[in-house]
Amino acid sequence: MTEPKKLFIKTYGCQMNVYDSERMAEALGGSGYVETASPNDADMILLNTCHIREKAAEKVYSELGRYKGLKAAKPDLKIGVAGCVAQAEGQEIMRRQPLVDLVVGPQSYHRLPEMEAKTRTGVKALDTDFPEEDKFERLKARPKAARGPTAFLTVQEGCDKFCAFCVVPYTRGAEVSRPASQVLDEARDLVERGVREITLLGQNVNAYHGADGQGGDWSLARLIEGLAEVDGLERIRYTTSHPNDMGDDLIAAHAECAKLMPYLHLPVQAGSDRILKRMNRAHTAESYLKLIERLRAARPDLHLSGDFIVGFPEETEADFQATLDLIRAVGYGTAFSFKYSTRPGTPAAERDQVPEDVKSDRLQRLQALITEQQRATQDAMVGREVSVLFEKEGRLPGQMVGKSDYLHAVHVADAGTAAGEIARVRIVESGPNSLAGVLV
Ligand code: 5AD
Ligand code: SF4
Repeated sequence: MTEPKKLFIKTYGCQMNVYDSERMAEALGGSGYVETASPNDADMILLNTCHIREKAAEKVYSELGRYKGLKAAKPDLKIGVAGCVAQAEGQEIMRRQPLVDLVVGPQSYHRLPEMEAKTRTGVKALDTDFPEEDKFERLKARPKAARGPTAFLTVQEGCDKFCAFCVVPYTRGAEVSRPASQVLDEARDLVERGVREITLLGQNVNAYHGADGQGGDWSLARLIEGLAEVDGLERIRYTTSHPNDMGDDLIAAHAECAKLMPYLHLPVQAGSDRILKRMNRAHTAESYLKLIERLRAARPDLHLSGDFIVGFPEETEADFQATLDLIRAVGYGTAFSFKYSTRPGTPAAERDQVPEDVKSDRLQRLQALITEQQRATQDAMVGREVSVLFEKEGRLPGQMVGKSDYLHAVHVADAGTAAGEIARVRIVESGPNSLAGVLV
């Protein structure tokens, strides 16, 4: 029997990349690869990259540079670049970094085994097509390994919204939804392998409209309803959503579906209508606030999360103040914020840029406000009872760590439970990054 080849995958960026890396590892499993945690003993190194901001893209080249010594010591080592940088800069990567053997865009991952075989014959492989065939069908896991209690499941990919700052519509392509039956099958399979919580992924997941096999479409709400009927699946989440696709049935699902967790990531990006318009967001600050009101009417304890960009071209101090006002009005449980980063080929790249120091100053002020809200939300959990899905053992003997319904990390001493179990926990302390609780 031949020794298995070793595969090292490094994943950057979003949760969809985490999901994709798992699928790629499974696909290459069929070519005799097992995963390794270190690049040093790898026969193949695969970087699954992110192109969302400039810094993310640059990291790829500096990481590749680091593998020069490894490749010199082991000429058989194959180095591949996957993900959104591969899609956006495929040819350029091959030119800039000759040690790269393989470049594969997100829509071609099912072709990875053939591409790997090609590199073994000494030929470089590049595929950044948007092929017709069903990538997901061909990426199905075989053999089926046991899984931890939580998993991501991509149900929708790509984006048709074309926000003026964003590369996603170019790197991931147009919006595509997977058929509902395919999603249900994959969910059942995950549950059989130990999964209790599934996070449905999509760049615009709430725009999901998957074929129902009878000539119709299922909305995300209908899909969640279908998933809720899967025995053994206890928790459902979804991310990322666009305010304009928050349908009535999805809002209602937050009131009606007990398995749908009370946490929603709903990016608004900015609070100034002038900037929102320039961003091509097609909603206003007010329409967003109204939507939040409706969501909270459906689910009063809903924790909200968001994304914010500061220093978008032409953003004034008054525009920025409007963003702070919106944040104060919403009260986020958590939020992610970024300095605007020029992305080649996007409309906003051509406009009047905000100076770097102004961006830094605004980011700092915005993050101070978010931290304050996050702190307040977390501290307010003390004394409350939550349900916790335990994911792993903690650092102390007997301690278990998991996530609450609201996605807070919670640790429990002497839990007497195993990973994959869900228990009622009373929160007794709010620490820097997590909560402490006791079993009820
Ligand atoms: N610059 C800064 N942040 C960006 N995002 C997307 N594109 C850019 C950009 N060019 C942020 C948005 C999005 C999140 C995933 O990344 O806030 O919601
Ligand atoms: Fe990018 Fe906007 Fe699409 Fe989100 S909705 S992926 S920010 S273009």
